[in-house]
Amino acid sequence: MADLELNKLFAAPLVAGVAFMGAGLIGELLVHPHKPATSAIQIGEAPRAAAPAAAAPAALEPIGPLMAAANVESGRALAQRNCAACHSFNDGGRSGVGPNLYGIVGKNHAQAAGFNYSAANRALAEKPWGYEELNAFLHAPARAMPGTRMAFAGLANNQQRADVIAYLRSLAASPVPLP
Ligand code: HEC
Repeated sequence: MADLELNKLFAAPLVAGVAFMGAGLIGELLVHPHKPATSAIQIGEAPRAAAPAAAAPAALEPIGPLMAAANVESGRALAQRNCAACHSFNDGGRSGVGPNLYGIVGKNHAQAAGFNYSAANRALAEKPWGYEELNAFLHAPARAMPGTRMAFAGLANNQQRADVIAYLRSLAASPVPLP
């Protein structure tokens, strides 16, 4: 009797397994994927002019809408982890591998006294670091400013960038208005 119970016990998963496999087989028979002789991609490429548009990278989402709900404390933690190896953030702080960043939001590019900026950044010295400039730069420094000396891959996450920018904005006696 006990043996019989054990058999049932072993049989149950076996039966379930066979049923599962059977279902898969039937499923494949019912919806057997038809592979077209030429792929859709090749067809799409036929008119040559359309190709570059398709290859263009997706545009960066504007950071403005994310700034209202951005978290300064999270930004401070992210900046400590990602930026502090090269940057100081305190008023009058020393520049290291990167320039001091106190008051950077709204300040013109390349303004830290005595810092050896790249020619690419110095070329923008008449332009302020606005929210979208920081957004693009922190997303992908080398892409936003070809020739930059900032050897940092970038922060891919939109909310994290918003938080870091909110923290940078807080580093001022009177922070510039939110976008
Ligand atoms: C490996 C070192 C390094 C790291 C990490 C780094 N930076 Fe930089 N950063 C630099 C250097 C070097 C420059 C100067 C770039 C130039 O002149 O092209 C710079 C420039 C900048 C500027 C422009 C400053 C100005 O005065 O024009 C900003 C803003 C900035 N960094 C923000 C950040 C933030 C925010 C982080 C972290 C998310 C970060 N950086 C991480 C090295 C670094």
